[in-house]
Amino acid sequence: MDWKIHTFSKLPSTQDYIKELAEQDFPEGEVIQCLIQTKGRGRHGNEWVSPMGNLYMSVLLRPECSADKAGQLSFVAAVALSAAIGEYLDETHTKSLKWPNDILIDGKKVAGILLESELKDGKVDSLALGMGVNIMVAPEGSVALNDITGDTQVAIHPFRDKVLGHLAACYKQWQEEGFTPIREKWLEEGHGIGQEISARLADKTVTGIFEDVDQNGALKLKTPDNDLIDISAGEVYFPNGKQE
Ligand code: BTN
Repeated sequence: MDWKIHTFSKLPSTQDYIKELAEQDFPEGEVIQCLIQTKGRGRHGNEWVSPMGNLYMSVLLRPECSADKAGQLSFVAAVALSAAIGEYLDETHTKSLKWPNDILIDGKKVAGILLESELKDGKVDSLALGMGVNIMVAPEGSVALNDITGDTQVAIHPFRDKVLGHLAACYKQWQEEGFTPIREKWLEEGHGIGQEISARLADKTVTGIFEDVDQNGALKLKTPDNDLIDISAGEVYFPNGKQE
């Protein structure tokens, strides 16, 4: 992948910028990064507070796959981000992946991923893949990479390049080998598998055991009645209060 990186000091949202490039028929590989976002957004319409000191980046992908496979790309991104973050952690810290695509260190969120797709004739026309990584600053309850890397302070731009390197490799693997190897890597670090979780759906909350992630990336939850239900969108939390 030949990334074309454009860096800005301040933007409303890198995600909106990359979507404009998608509308203008730019090819995949465009990367928009900025130092401050004034209207950063996260999943479920949440605000993504974006002060100076962190990585805010969106990437344009055109995976030419059916609409139902688009969600797999958020696992591709999570595995790639995790690998980049892993380069800075020692064995005293634990990294895990919270379904569907948050990265946690020692149970606290360090990075989030936002995937927005445009469809055409039932296929994916473009994907805006947004990534926010706390490097120097973290909101309350989250963690910044530099809080736990000790003497090795993480600089934003070299870190960005590591993320893009891992993303290119994981995306290529997904294109050539499909979702299976990506899913396996994700499951190796999956947070809370085998534990009780609650999933907040559009109309209700369900609680059960987090059994697995299936071939489409849906979370398999076993209810107290032993029903296995598929959760393909929603917010997951841990009722025992350990950590999200
Ligand atoms: C989440 O809710 O966890 C996803 C957060 C995604 C934030 C990133 S920062 C770069 C890109 N631009 C945005 O406005 N959002 C994403």
